[in-house]
Amino acid sequence: MDIFHIEGPVRLSGSVSINGSKNASLPIMAAAILASGKSVLSAVPHLSDISVCGELLTRLGCKLARGPNGDLSIDSTVIDNPVGEYEIVRRMRASICILGPLLGRCGRAEVSMPGGCAIGDRPVNLHLRGLQELGARIHLKNGYIIAEAPNGLRGKDIFMGGPFGSTVLGTANVLMAATLAKGRTVIESAACEPEVADLANLLNKMGAKISGIGSPRLIIEGVKELQPTRFEVIPDRIEAGTFMVAAAMTAGEVRLRNCRLDDMMAVVDKLRSIGVTVERQDKGCVVARSGSIKASNITTLPYPGFPTDLQAQFMALLSLAEGNSVIIEKIFPDRFMHVAELNRMAADLHKEGPIVIVAGVKKLVAAPVMASDLRASAALVLAGLAAEGTTIVSRVYHIDRGYEKIEERLNPVGAKIIREDI
Ligand code: EPU
Repeated sequence: MDIFHIEGPVRLSGSVSINGSKNASLPIMAAAILASGKSVLSAVPHLSDISVCGELLTRLGCKLARGPNGDLSIDSTVIDNPVGEYEIVRRMRASICILGPLLGRCGRAEVSMPGGCAIGDRPVNLHLRGLQELGARIHLKNGYIIAEAPNGLRGKDIFMGGPFGSTVLGTANVLMAATLAKGRTVIESAACEPEVADLANLLNKMGAKISGIGSPRLIIEGVKELQPTRFEVIPDRIEAGTFMVAAAMTAGEVRLRNCRLDDMMAVVDKLRSIGVTVERQDKGCVVARSGSIKASNITTLPYPGFPTDLQAQFMALLSLAEGNSVIIEKIFPDRFMHVAELNRMAADLHKEGPIVIVAGVKKLVAAPVMASDLRASAALVLAGLAAEGTTIVSRVYHIDRGYEKIEERLNPVGAKIIREDI
């Protein structure tokens, strides 16, 4: 098992390129199921979650290969085992996004019911209700969701809002299934995240008829079949946001290449309001901080609001602010595994339900800490860059799920991170 030794404090300076988006790639890989033949995807990052998704598709019958230029080809000519096994789903909850495309293509799917995870319960009731509205018969058997639509799916008006707003993968599942349903589907309260828009753009390239892309009302005219295609995945806005915080926390100056600021306005606005400069530069931006960090309040919300996937990283940043900040988590109210670990590094965080009060401190101090989930672990790495001494982060495999060789990306711009296999 790998651990990181992170020596701090450092000042980051230089240029980093942002990789393709993990959360766009996963449903886009699943969408290849919808068309028989070979799809070719570029900018799919080399991450453990992507490998798990590849394994999932392989077990369905698909053939996957990486080309010499890194492109990922998925040949879905044969899908003879429409089953998402527990052994894989338990490793990656996003496996649930094969449910909609399998139903659309095969009229049947069996997918292990995902359990909870480090960030909360994470139900899938909205996914299932949406697919039932399209005419699927769904029941649970031995921990598996069994979904059937032997005579095909039928378009319908569906409301997909839940107690915490829209659902990203729920929207993806219903959207993918609806592309091959008979007639017209309207998804109201659809997730507007750029990753959902990217999926819809891919589906249209495959021959789907989707309008309202990027809005909370998606309209899908069902088609008889889809064709495989070539597609480039959008850059990862969460990786970009994480590296922006790295620049800000270390009072550095970092140029991010291949970064779509238009997908990140809530994040950019927050950075600017706390004293960080973010300047747009052709296909990227430059992020720098010279003065102190001002305290600020953050409430996570569905897109275009502030993303929950950057809440932990901004908590690490605001730990070093002058004054008190309040962070309210409105998407995953239990997503606070990083609080106790950051406090071990001399942060001053008080949690009350879904709210954390961040009392700014002058400095963070290195400590041995444990990664718990992907974004919480990223926050610990960021804290380690700014803290005095050598921070040791264990269970680095959580970080590898969503950041491709983070040490090889940050060390060239001034980080001192050593990976050790213990
Ligand atoms: N929800 C329900 N019922 C459902 C589905 C969701 O009540 O059937 C609730 C959830 O419990 C949560 C809220 O709705 O309170 C939003 O959850 P959502 O379904 O949007 O989350 P997701 O689709 O499972 C994706 C990302 C997460 C990201 C969330 C929110 C992928 C692979 N995962 O998850 O990314 O936090 O959207 O933006 O796209 C990460 O990358 O670290 C990560 C966890």
